[in-house]
Amino acid sequence: MMIDLTTLRADFPILSREVYGRPLVYLDNAATTQKPLCVLDAMRDEYLNVNANVHRGVHFLSQQATDLHEAARERVRTFINARKTEEVVFTRGTTEAINLVASTFCASQMREGDEVVVTDMEHHSNIVPWQLQAQQRGIIVRHLPITDRGELCPLDEVERMLGDRTRLLCVTHVSNVLGTVNPVKDIIRVAHEHGVPVLVDAAQSAPHLRLDVQAMDCDFLAFSGHKMYGPTGIGVLYGKEAWLDRLPPYQGGGEMIDKVSWERTTFERLPFKFEAGTPDYVATHGLATAIDYLERVGLDNVAAHEKDLTDYCTERLREVEGLRIYGEAGHKAGVVSFLVGDIHHLDMGTLLDRLGIAVRTGHHCAQPLMARLGVTGTVRASFAMYNTREEVDLLVAGIRRVVTMF
Ligand code: ALA
Repeated sequence: MMIDLTTLRADFPILSREVYGRPLVYLDNAATTQKPLCVLDAMRDEYLNVNANVHRGVHFLSQQATDLHEAARERVRTFINARKTEEVVFTRGTTEAINLVASTFCASQMREGDEVVVTDMEHHSNIVPWQLQAQQRGIIVRHLPITDRGELCPLDEVERMLGDRTRLLCVTHVSNVLGTVNPVKDIIRVAHEHGVPVLVDAAQSAPHLRLDVQAMDCDFLAFSGHKMYGPTGIGVLYGKEAWLDRLPPYQGGGEMIDKVSWERTTFERLPFKFEAGTPDYVATHGLATAIDYLERVGLDNVAAHEKDLTDYCTERLREVEGLRIYGEAGHKAGVVSFLVGDIHHLDMGTLLDRLGIAVRTGHHCAQPLMARLGVTGTVRASFAMYNTREEVDLLVAGIRRVVTMF
């Protein structure tokens, strides 16, 4: 074990609290992660000592705040290995990043009858933005099937889906329900052979796997701060410069303009063209601090620890009679979804909660996937770097206890 869990957990005071008089077992990390003290301290310190609007003031504080904000952009750039900071756009989260691409890409690069391909395991945030464009512009949304194990269909099937009218392929890196890690590099290679750019939803991979947008060769990639130990309300859209240059602005307002007159308005250079309004410059600093923290622990250590937890949890859950696991891909990251007998997922989640165990229940914002699995919802345990095998044992004991109540 490369992670010293006792020391690490001390960085997250919330993990020591009790709920209903029991120690908290927090297994809802795919929804959001807890924040280490260093992130909270960095943000508090900025509000206490630096706070001023960025990119606007000539004064000292504004310049200091701007420096921190732009240093955060550089930190994100190195985290994902983008070529330039111009390719790093701050958004409110993955959802806004995908909506930005859906809106601007469809407006400028697609015509009625053109196609976007997604997959059956997407989160609603990588389905509904495209459906909205379909309603407004008559584009067509097609979806790639998954296997019964919860893996994406083979690459030749992906290839067959890419036709003359396919303009974009959008795929999640890691499924928030099944935990499946998709072979995005291979998918991108195949898509590029057909001249189709690819958007990767990395919301569920950024906290678990090392991202390298140049090695992956994705055209767009989106992720959220709050799922990777950073603050809520901040996210990132990475886009290749050539693509971002071709797309029109998303929202209008301050920050994103070059010159405004009644006759003609021109726009800022990248990435500011896509950043209308005052950015959450405190959150960007918090995100950069979270990235520092994640990299200090080491993404390889985190991945190895979470694999151990996922394997251990899967093995222990298989011992529970009547328990079915959804998502049995060969390569998974930190998520285990399940149902037991005919116990409703909401009942299981509610009763586990009374035992101090926080899991997510329901459709997980992936209703088309639920339809494919033939269920209305599942119970989902999802892991972060600070979880322990003892917590997995408590989960399994909790499930057994709930089973006896039915
Ligand atoms: N997308 C988050 C989840 O899967 C909210 O729980």
